[in-house]
Amino acid sequence: MTEVETYQVDDEIAKNAWVDEPTYFKMYQQSVDDPEGFWAEHGKRIHWFKPFSKVKDVNFGANDVHIRWFYDGTTNACYNCLDRHLPEKKDETAIIWEGDDPHESRHISYGEAYEEVCRLANVLKAQGVGKGDRVTIYMPMVPEAAYAMLACARIGAIHSVVFGGFSPDSLASRIQDAEAKMVITADEGLRGGRKVPLKKNTDEAVTNCPTIEKVLVVRRTGGSIEWEDGRDLWYHEELAKVSDDCPAEEMDAEDPLFVLYTSGSTGKPKGVLHTTAGYMVFVAMTQQYIFDYHDGEVYWCTADVGWVTGHSYIVYGPLANGATTLIFEGVPNYPSPSRHWEVIDKHKVNIYYTAPTAIRALMREGEGPVKKTSRKSLRILGTVGEPINPEAWRWYHDVVGEKRCPVVDTWWQTETGGIMISPLPGATPQKPGSATRPFFGIKPVIVDSDGHHLEGATQGNLCIADSWPGQMRTVYGDHERFVQTYFSSYPGKYFTGDGCRRDEDGYYWITGRVDDVLNVSGHRMGTAEIESALVLHDKVAEAAVVGYPHDLKGQGIYAYVTLVAGEEPSEALRKELNDLCRKEIGPIAKPDLIQFAPGLPKTRSGKIMRRILRKIAEDDFSNLGDTTTLADPTVVDDLIENRMNRG
Ligand code: WT7
Repeated sequence: MTEVETYQVDDEIAKNAWVDEPTYFKMYQQSVDDPEGFWAEHGKRIHWFKPFSKVKDVNFGANDVHIRWFYDGTTNACYNCLDRHLPEKKDETAIIWEGDDPHESRHISYGEAYEEVCRLANVLKAQGVGKGDRVTIYMPMVPEAAYAMLACARIGAIHSVVFGGFSPDSLASRIQDAEAKMVITADEGLRGGRKVPLKKNTDEAVTNCPTIEKVLVVRRTGGSIEWEDGRDLWYHEELAKVSDDCPAEEMDAEDPLFVLYTSGSTGKPKGVLHTTAGYMVFVAMTQQYIFDYHDGEVYWCTADVGWVTGHSYIVYGPLANGATTLIFEGVPNYPSPSRHWEVIDKHKVNIYYTAPTAIRALMREGEGPVKKTSRKSLRILGTVGEPINPEAWRWYHDVVGEKRCPVVDTWWQTETGGIMISPLPGATPQKPGSATRPFFGIKPVIVDSDGHHLEGATQGNLCIADSWPGQMRTVYGDHERFVQTYFSSYPGKYFTGDGCRRDEDGYYWITGRVDDVLNVSGHRMGTAEIESALVLHDKVAEAAVVGYPHDLKGQGIYAYVTLVAGEEPSEALRKELNDLCRKEIGPIAKPDLIQFAPGLPKTRSGKIMRRILRKIAEDDFSNLGDTTTLADPTVVDDLIENRMNRG
């Protein structure tokens, strides 16, 4: 393993930061020595209708997994994001919205956001949505997406945001699993100058969703759409009909806040369930400390609200802290590859949080598009979603941040609710490519495949030994799957699915997934989902999907496909298979490479040897291991001979 350089903490930053290095060590120690005491103190950072007296009730034992935090208190997530700030921040900016078109932007104050959310909450109630009901949100990146989430939280409805890039089929299966009553969508989205037919996709999806009673439609582009009277409602018309008085529902700490679907190594995406109080405490605290957020700063997380990053670090975390959060509708390269840097200058962004895949794409454009902007407002840079390669890290730090801004490489997951391992700007010397040290209360452990703890500098599978308030509580409607997926591999511990190295300094280096989950441009996808889409084609007999290293995307999708007898491979068929993945899942699921193979390597009991397929996809077959146990060892020669990924 090549050693990388260390970037020391800047004195000036440390001096003004919430947490400096000695404070980090002190607080971390306290958080793991006395979790109850630590979280009892930090649980007070949110507003409680009824304060909690019980802090933690957790069992990671597979016979009875349960996780409860602050569980006799009552609170409301929306109240914490809006109402609480009104006395001091009514006229201060809660949301800066920057449209796809660089000429379009808006500032929304806390007072305005509050009024809009109250009205929307009253619309939901008027349409029969109540506490515990599910509402699916399928929206572009407009302020109404955040309002929709907050309005649900306000009345105790559980939101399920579905990324606007997902297909009608994916949307339908998520609506069905959640048994949602309502969809909130827009006529069309707008990204990079192109329209996204959200309402049309919703129409298609809800034909198969009998639980949907109403579709509430935000007018974004004014493009022509179909309309079903009695079911479809215009957002602006309904809001005009109701009052702006809607007290926040008093929720139990452990009442569900939202469900968010994410891919696993098997089966359909699962509904990750997060509850109210612990989640709010954790996202607010991490947003403050990890981005060293100070009052009055402009904070921009470039994620989509369809992912957990958007939930925790565009909406709930920053708003709980009374921050100014920027919502950007567009894409990094429209109208030019300077767009992000121009947005930073236009709105004087202080904290910028993005993904390695975006950094690599912008790095490819050279320094020109960056250098023609000032970026002098920038103070802190963040990254999330996949391991960042040191070259991209250095470019981010040196070129974008002009060596002035610490880079926080934040490791976490949909399941963890918030950031788990990350530098703190004033406390942690950084090493390019390392997520560095655990956040307060987080106890990472590295285990070997038998579950033995590995100490010191080592490498293995990453588990977390004890609960933290932002942890997911269950898989929606399938607690058994929750237990199976996260608590059965290594009893008594939460298993992350990631591989990890720890160096001599106790720094963590995430090496990527160790299960059959891909990370393509920071988007998580199960190989099984893509395989299921491919085998729907009637010419396909069998499919196996693996990841391979991809310069821009981190991982690319490599699909091995065997055809039914008598069918011939063709470019036309390749295209049909691509289209099928797009239709079944969404554009992000299109294979980068499809290899037609007469056979797949299988054991004599019929199990596909994925390890071999992965090696071939990586263009590395020096070390295929023992292939003699295969039912037909000759298939491997054919696979190598016809591989698609020649280095
Ligand atoms: C998986 C979780 C958490 C928000 C975005 C993705 C990978 C995430 C990092 C990082 C290395 C990372 C892991 C993880 N990942 N952040 N900083 N360094 N890997 O959420 O879709 O639930 O994906 O993303 O493999 O398990 P997600």
